[in-house]
Amino acid sequence: MNPASLIPLAEPLPIHWAWFDVLLIVTFTAHVLFMNALVGSAIIGLWRAMRGDGSVAHDVGMKLPPLLALTINMGVAPLLFLQVNYGHFDYVSSVLMGGWWLAVIAALMFSYYGFYTYKFRYESMGQTSRNVLYAASLAGLLYVGFMFSNNMTLMLRPDAWTEYFTTIGSFLNTSDRVLYPRFLHFMVGAIAIGGLFISLLGQWRKNDEFVDVGMVWFTRATLINVGVGFWFLMALPSGMILNFLGSNLPATMTIIASLVAAGMLLSAGFRKHPTQAVTWAVLTVFFMTCTRHWVRTFYLDPWFRIETTPVTNQYSSFYLFLGFLVVGLAGIGYMLKLYFKSREGRA
Ligand code: HEM
Repeated sequence: MNPASLIPLAEPLPIHWAWFDVLLIVTFTAHVLFMNALVGSAIIGLWRAMRGDGSVAHDVGMKLPPLLALTINMGVAPLLFLQVNYGHFDYVSSVLMGGWWLAVIAALMFSYYGFYTYKFRYESMGQTSRNVLYAASLAGLLYVGFMFSNNMTLMLRPDAWTEYFTTIGSFLNTSDRVLYPRFLHFMVGAIAIGGLFISLLGQWRKNDEFVDVGMVWFTRATLINVGVGFWFLMALPSGMILNFLGSNLPATMTIIASLVAAGMLLSAGFRKHPTQAVTWAVLTVFFMTCTRHWVRTFYLDPWFRIETTPVTNQYSSFYLFLGFLVVGLAGIGYMLKLYFKSREGRA
């Protein structure tokens, strides 16, 4: 069977495709940053709690429910933009994953309740049950992350979709050797940014121990992630590796920008400068997200080119969207201003 016959037709786009790609990359960068603070700080907190120091788990645990809510909210926007430009790939992979994919909602709700219970029942729970609840809620998040990696890689491989005809029920993309370094690259990155989040929390509360602990995790995890990133690159098909090594100039420039930003990030980490590290972390995640977008473009190239999608040039709803975006951002800015003013008053 020709796998191309399994790809649904692309729907026409109302405006130029580049708008959706830019919005996808920008909003996904925000999603990754929040996801990293959430998953990474939870992992570090659990590790330390199991070694007898529950202070990080306690302080981070109080922040996990709002971080989870923000991660989910920041995930909705890229999901919508992804579906506009690449829905005919992403919908298929979601359907092929079936129950595994639907279980993401149950896992998210489980983790949400778990972290809320941890926060509000902290005093009344014993240490062991606290740690078990924390670990189980974290496991829920790891499941969600792994399912996203499965979906985002399965959507790129229409040739693997034919497994549907030989398997009973839904399946994952576990036959893809890229899946493992890709997922690990995300998770080790999460630990690094989680460390940075703990440092910022320490800086905010004038707790030097948190600043030091966070920066150590931040730099060590980043160093390890250089190796994992290299493994990820080498696991890609050979033509794609060459694209990042000079064959495709924009892609090569993007990966170089990511590596330079990662170098600056490490330097800020070694100098124990959390605020500078934040700037470089945001830039690194942004450039890495652009690099990941190149990976998607190269994978889909034999099957689909976004430039070929018809455009109907109906810009009115886009202007409406931009208007709401500006008003919404101004509203959020105003609410944040009020919030910080009221904190100062309470202090
Ligand atoms: C809170 C738990 C979550 C975790 C740990 C998580 C983690 C991840 C990870 C690791 C990826 C990258 C997968 C890859 O490319 O290999 C990812 C991608 C993505 N996530 Fe999340 N995610 C979470 C929740 C959500 C939710 C609730 C949504 C949507 C409502 C969402 C939307 C997305 C989208 C759209 C992408 C792909 C964007 C793109 O391909 O450009 N995430 N997520």
